[in-house]
Amino acid sequence: MSKDRVADTIYSKQQNVVDFVFDENVANVFSDMIRRSVPGYESIVTMLGVFAEQYVQPGSQVYDLGCSLGASTLSMRSRLKNTPCHMVAIDNSEAMVEKCRVNVNLTSGPEVDVICADIREIDINNASLAVMNFTLQFLPVVDREALLKKIADNMLPAGAVILSEKIAFDNAEEAALNETLHLSFKKANGYSELEIAQKRSAIENVLIPETLPAHLARLKQAGFSQAQVWFQCFNFVSIIAIK
Ligand SMILES: C[S@@+](CC[C@H](N)C(=O)[O-])C[C@H]1O[C@@H](n2cnc3c(N)ncnc32)[C@H](O)[C@@H]1O
Repeated sequence: MSKDRVADTIYSKQQNVVDFVFDENVANVFSDMIRRSVPGYESIVTMLGVFAEQYVQPGSQVYDLGCSLGASTLSMRSRLKNTPCHMVAIDNSEAMVEKCRVNVNLTSGPEVDVICADIREIDINNASLAVMNFTLQFLPVVDREALLKKIADNMLPAGAVILSEKIAFDNAEEAALNETLHLSFKKANGYSELEIAQKRSAIENVLIPETLPAHLARLKQAGFSQAQVWFQCFNFVSIIAIK
């Protein structure tokens, strides 16, 4: 582990598990938590820089919705040094936003506004790229279409959304296979059975996964002309949708 990554031990001791929140305790260990919990996270974040080079249009805005500590913003920003654009990173967790601002200030590139707000409430303008890297899954399902429609309606022609999500499966065998592999991934990354069980019960009412067909259909419904998976590892996918 790199020395600036604090180890996630939040669920290592037996406890009365409450619903998961993105508070200061989580923000402190988030970098370690997400890398050890989400297979493919680092590859996806790296590729966001490639998507930024491909899709960000000069004079447009780039949105990172649910930015946490700013990993996606920083990956895109590092590839946009020669593209005149404006970046907006939004999260509704104060603790995340505070740390994200520090991380943004340690790097250079296009100007970034780091905003503490609910992504359902903010305006989107003149967007050529919007990223939701494992964020939509935390919104109530009923709110998801309106958010995607707001993004599509305020996106420039040929703009793109990158949507990364944990997914569910209609087929029970497929679901079981992917869940088993995800469990193995977490164990291989040093999480104990107790940590895995407690985290699962903390997150089960908070992170609501949907099937891949449901995501693709909703993106089309919201106004994107094309939507396809560009990355999958077990029950984690990333989708690109083009206006
Ligand atoms: C799994 S993390 C996202 C990881 C981040 N995108 C990355 O690439 O490292 C989900 C984030 O979404 C934020 N979030 C959840 N619901 C939100 C909402 N309604 N408005 C703004 N942010 C939200 C949480 O605070 C959390 O920081």
